[in-house]
Amino acid sequence: MKGIKVDQVGGDYQVTNDLPKPSPDSNQLLVKSIFGAVNPVDELMRKTGLLITSWPWTPCCDVAGTIVEVGSGVTKFKVGDQVFGCQGVGFLGAGGAAEYCLFSEDIAFKKPDHISLAEAATMGVGNQTAALGLWSGLNIALPDPQNLPAVSDEWVLVLGGGGSVGGYAVQLSKLSGYKVIASVSGRSISAALAHGADETVDYQTPVDEQIAKIKEITKGKLHRIIDTTSYNANFVKQVLQEIKDDAGEKYFASVNDWEDFGPLPGDAKFYPISLGPLGRPEATELNEALSKYVAVIESLIDAGKVKPSKYTIVGETGFESFIEAVKVQSGGSAKKVVAKLQEE
Ligand SMILES: NC(=O)c1ccc[n+]([C@@H]2O[C@H](COP(=O)([O-])OP(=O)(O)OC[C@H]3O[C@@H](n4cnc5c(N)ncnc54)[C@H](OP(=O)(O)O)[C@@H]3O)[C@@H](O)[C@H]2O)c1
Repeated sequence: MKGIKVDQVGGDYQVTNDLPKPSPDSNQLLVKSIFGAVNPVDELMRKTGLLITSWPWTPCCDVAGTIVEVGSGVTKFKVGDQVFGCQGVGFLGAGGAAEYCLFSEDIAFKKPDHISLAEAATMGVGNQTAALGLWSGLNIALPDPQNLPAVSDEWVLVLGGGGSVGGYAVQLSKLSGYKVIASVSGRSISAALAHGADETVDYQTPVDEQIAKIKEITKGKLHRIIDTTSYNANFVKQVLQEIKDDAGEKYFASVNDWEDFGPLPGDAKFYPISLGPLGRPEATELNEALSKYVAVIESLIDAGKVKPSKYTIVGETGFESFIEAVKVQSGGSAKKVVAKLQEE
């Protein structure tokens, strides 16, 4: 089948006709990829080979498309349904930048009518990563979508609250009953507020000023911090140092899952967010957690309570446009970058 391949670590993206067409197992769906969104991990994987267990490798882990075949045990979906989300990375059938890719019934989001397929392609990795950070990492209770909790006076600090993962961390924190202070630069203040942040702090202002503002706003009710940028651990340590004597356990989750930050001030509990092994048979705990989280987020999206981030579509319809989209994303786009891979 047609799609994009990379032959080796550091190799170029090539459009090719010789990819093997995957075949769904009993609980899998074969999906025709229509829109694909770029994530920072695409370039990271190409450059380092990280998480790639099957070569040639096909990029794109945020995909939306139409089911063309279902495995014998599938009950939730049928041929013709439209689905989206991240199903894993680096193994055969996972790459979305191909005519067809595989979804698992348990971690596929069903696309509701009020969300376009292009929007849907932007909503997988961000939501799934934020969900792990909050519900697995920050000791935040998984909300009942039919009976959402009232917002309490407890705060979550979201570093990168204007980005993709950060935007969903803001939305899901609010829906879980927390107030949110988002750390952003000027270009993303409006995005963070649109996601529901109660307050913002500008990470380009002096650190002392940021911490003073955070303390003044949260008034001893900050126990949970999520870094969705991956390089703010030192800042988090300084915040924790300042709030360490406030009553209550402190929690810190970060998308930086490769560094050992050592003991944290106030004995804060650290959770490294790691979506990468998703979909692999050995990642049972992660797969089970995500299947619960996907069900909750799917209901919240259906009800219009979780909304897509701003995005931009790059290029013409075709797999070449994904390669173009990767370049745009690598240049530092403030919006999610999407490519239309094929006609519906
Ligand atoms: N570990 C995992 O499982 C996992 C999963 C998914 C993603 N990730 C990683 O998570 C990171 C974010 O991914 P994404 O898709 O959300 O990227 P994104 O949409 O590009 O967002 C990144 C955000 O970081 C913000 N930022 C940059 N420097 C900052 C600072 N010093 N303080 C606060 N915010 C800062 C930018 O904010 P402004 O626009 O406000 O300047 C930008 O919006 C990437 O490194 C990605 O590789 C990891």
